[in-house]
Amino acid sequence: MKKKIRVGMIGYGFMGKAHTNAFRQAAKFFPDLPYEPELKMFCARNEERAKQFADNWGYEKVVTDWQKIVESDEVDLIDICAPNNMHRDIAIAAAEAGKWVLTEKPLSLNVAQGEEMVAAVEKAGVPNMVWYNYRRIPSVTLAKNIVDRGSLGKIFHYRANFLQDWTISADLPQGGEGLWRLDVDVAGSGVTGDLLAHCIDTAMWLNGSIVEVSAMTETFIKEREHSLTGKVQKVGIDDACAFLAKFENGSLAIFESTRYARGHKALYTFEINGEKSSISWDLHDLHRLKYFDHSDESIVRGWRDIHVTDGDQPYMDKWWVPGLNIGFEHSFTHGVADFLASVDSENKAQPDFRNALQTQKVCEAVINSGKSRQWEKTKVEL
Ligand SMILES: NC(=O)c1ccc[n+]([C@@H]2O[C@H](COP(=O)([O-])OP(=O)(O)OC[C@H]3O[C@@H](n4cnc5c(N)ncnc54)[C@H](O)[C@@H]3O)[C@@H](O)[C@H]2O)c1
Repeated sequence: MKKKIRVGMIGYGFMGKAHTNAFRQAAKFFPDLPYEPELKMFCARNEERAKQFADNWGYEKVVTDWQKIVESDEVDLIDICAPNNMHRDIAIAAAEAGKWVLTEKPLSLNVAQGEEMVAAVEKAGVPNMVWYNYRRIPSVTLAKNIVDRGSLGKIFHYRANFLQDWTISADLPQGGEGLWRLDVDVAGSGVTGDLLAHCIDTAMWLNGSIVEVSAMTETFIKEREHSLTGKVQKVGIDDACAFLAKFENGSLAIFESTRYARGHKALYTFEINGEKSSISWDLHDLHRLKYFDHSDESIVRGWRDIHVTDGDQPYMDKWWVPGLNIGFEHSFTHGVADFLASVDSENKAQPDFRNALQTQKVCEAVINSGKSRQWEKTKVEL
């Protein structure tokens, strides 16, 4: 008989849906998990919309105050899908209440908050994880396997982009529902914490610690009306950011992110160049991994385009038949499965809060470097 784990979810936006779907799917597609998620309680401030969401997805109860869900003895696990400025208070309260805690990325608004969160979950000894979901796209997990096998040899270069185009209009307000990402008090930063955080997490997972960064940040639209106050206010986020980085293993990196790349909606790409081979990946083609093997001296040498759908490739034995793709949402199902499978084991699902704090340190060094125009040390401890 499986143990039930009663889920308390906060937030019904983009991630609230993605995670709820994952909690519903995980036990079905990963039948050997030791725990079975039960959608127990849901929290959002607007009661009517919260009820609609809860009814649609099958949560038993609704509350409108996150403190109630955190304190409830009907819930074992708290999942935070609210904006970034909410992560710290909810996570610390949940840990102090002895709940398992999952939070969306970035871990926190800044490193100081992240350190408090790490201290809280470690003091309480509660299982914890941050949803850097790109690690769990099978083709990206395959890239990790290839790197860990040493197939790339010495790594020289890492480059990543995350490009969007949705904030180009100067008429777009900042703050409030749907636009909190433009309000620095709620988001913490702009593209650095929102998009580059994903690239940094993947990069350090694949290629080790980033030790130093030199960044250029820009806010193209300096003032925007605030949706909540109606006043025109200074924009405090970085609209675009490009940074150079050095890894502990000696490799060099270049990262770029913007919300001003007309035509790009969510173009996350990375490429790694090693002495023996290279790999490259593109979110728009997320079931594929490109691989160049220098040891192939045959007449048909060249970049291989690996369609990652076979049963011996990461996670794919749990899904359809070889040749059929899975998508973005499955990375969250894999997150739930890995987390629940690891709770009682020595090898905890990653990134946990401490691991995600390292990404926060790089983000903060990037923002600081953008201001100081100097190279900044990251103080990452992996
Ligand atoms: N892993 C990923 O790929 C990914 C993608 C998008 C967002 N995110 C992260 O997920 C988090 C949420 O982002 P989103 O896109 O789902 O945002 P969203 O704006 O779509 O939804 C946010 C939700 O939080 C709720 N909320 C806000 N304040 C609240 C409060 N005080 N109490 C209770 N609920 C409150 C809102 O009502 C809404 O339901 C952010 O931290 C974001 O960075 C991660």
